[in-house]
Amino acid sequence: MEIVVSGIRPTGNLHLGNYFGAIRNFLRLQEEYNCFFFIADWHSLTTHPKPGDITANVRKILAEYLACGIDPEKAAIYVQSDVKEVLELYLYLNMNAYLGELERVTSFKEKARTQPDNVNAGLLTYPTLMAADVIVHKAVKVPVGKDQEQNMEMLRKFARRFNTIYGVDYFPEPASYSFAGEATKVPGLDGSGKMGKSEGNAIYLADDPDTIRKKVMKAVTDSGPTVPDSPKPEAIENLFTLLKIVSSADTYNYFNDRYNTCAIRYGDLKKQLAEDIVAFTSPIREKILGVVSDTVYMDRVAATGAERARESAARTIREVREIIGFRG
Ligand code: TRP
Repeated sequence: MEIVVSGIRPTGNLHLGNYFGAIRNFLRLQEEYNCFFFIADWHSLTTHPKPGDITANVRKILAEYLACGIDPEKAAIYVQSDVKEVLELYLYLNMNAYLGELERVTSFKEKARTQPDNVNAGLLTYPTLMAADVIVHKAVKVPVGKDQEQNMEMLRKFARRFNTIYGVDYFPEPASYSFAGEATKVPGLDGSGKMGKSEGNAIYLADDPDTIRKKVMKAVTDSGPTVPDSPKPEAIENLFTLLKIVSSADTYNYFNDRYNTCAIRYGDLKKQLAEDIVAFTSPIREKILGVVSDTVYMDRVAATGAERARESAARTIREVREIIGFRG
């Protein structure tokens, strides 16, 4: 079975945008591929050297992914720092990664600008660690957003270079499996753009119903159309997009007709939208609450995932050592 690897940044809670972007793709991929999904806690040290309660943080993320339906029976779900084999490959890749090319990476330059007091070597070698994460399982596909394209190019370059230097055809060149085609862009509630944590316009899967209602009722609207069949301004279009995602076709058509006949009442639309979002997120929220309190279960999931990942990684490291010339 073809191998898929993806890393999850350990930041914040999941929102609707994450669900209809990455997560829904993970759910599909876990049915068809041998998937390794991990929480990239080492990578977070490049920007947060003192991560605080990293165990609690990691558990929270794990709980949310499990609640969404990532199935530990199907995918190996693990914590990056539990698989030390990755570090050995990271070291080998670093020996063949050049300062010039690493310095040219856009996200490195950006981070160097935003954290000038902490331009550390981990930041510089972020792409080699990411490459090690992926090729340690000899993955052929990596589901990532567009923002990861440069890292993906570096990763392929490192895999190719290893093969060239040691005269082998060992590492496959992993393809980016872009969500873009399959992902639904979820708009924010602030009238423009997409839903995001940093945009402050997100509805979280763990939000309770009242929080969701309040957020939706505050969504930006206008004074309503005065001419039948007017085009919708962006803020209004966004609300309809949300309806399309979480509500029934009947509901969508009802409000669309009201809009086209200038009889729309945004208050009614928002109330309905809020209830439909609540109906969608509530089962997930309940699962999150259930899983979060079951640390025994989560630790078992992480341990099982790590074991599967280590087995796969150890095989690669054994072969890589042989290829480079270390004795077994
Ligand atoms: N760089 C990725 C991000 O910021 C996270 C990540 C780390 C990753 N290692 C990976 C993604 C390996 C895919 C494969 O989102």
